[in-house]
Amino acid sequence: MNRYPKRDDLRAMSGYHSPQVSVKVRLNTNESPIAPPAEFLEALAKAVGDVRWNRYPDRAALELRTAIGALHGVGADNIFVGNGSNEVLQAVLLAYGGAGRTVATFEPTYQLHAHIARITGATVVSGRRDANFVLQADEVQRVLGAHAPHVTFLCSPNNPTGMAEDPAIIQRTIDNAPGIVVVDEAYAQFSPHTALTYIHEDSRVAVSRTFSWMSSTLRVAFAFISK
Ligand SMILES: Cc1ncc(COP(=O)(O)O)c(C=O)c1O
Repeated sequence: MNRYPKRDDLRAMSGYHSPQVSVKVRLNTNESPIAPPAEFLEALAKAVGDVRWNRYPDRAALELRTAIGALHGVGADNIFVGNGSNEVLQAVLLAYGGAGRTVATFEPTYQLHAHIARITGATVVSGRRDANFVLQADEVQRVLGAHAPHVTFLCSPNNPTGMAEDPAIIQRTIDNAPGIVVVDEAYAQFSPHTALTYIHEDSRVAVSRTFSWMSSTLRVAFAFISK
């Protein structure tokens, strides 16, 4: 297997490595230090027992998407679900990134945005946060103006800086980006605001969220997609 050549551009890439530390509270991965309550485990065990394992599940995951949508005041049509938000981001990048397209990130940020974008064959362009890791409006404008990215990533709160993106910057990026804007809200529980307000029919915004904070093993994540 190893002897068979991979795509040249993939061979040149190093893998994604995220150093883990052995501490109780792991903010960097947003894992809960507290195990889920017994009632949750009981309900889960019962649900597992009720699954018809010999059949495909509901392919559209309509019940799950409807429940997530109801929780956030949007319809199932606005929800896309996947196995962890990396898979959600990958699906977004396969649809809107890919060969011949450009994806913008503002570094330092979550490394997998650029990594997955490159795997889809997209060209990644990187803007910079300032010395205090704050994203400035003129830098956003420079990157959007110079590269007209098909996909622009924001991350709020941002991994690894831990800072929520300024709502004015999110607004400005959405107003000026020529393509779609993905706001990764994997750490939404630590943010005073959300980009969910931008999910409506005429916007080109996707907001990704994950349930990893509740159970990192279940791997359910979702994105709110504007229609
Ligand atoms: C910003 C950000 N987005 C997405 C993810 C992936 O989360 P998930 O567990 O849903 O795949 C992480 C995980 O560290 C992350 O830091």
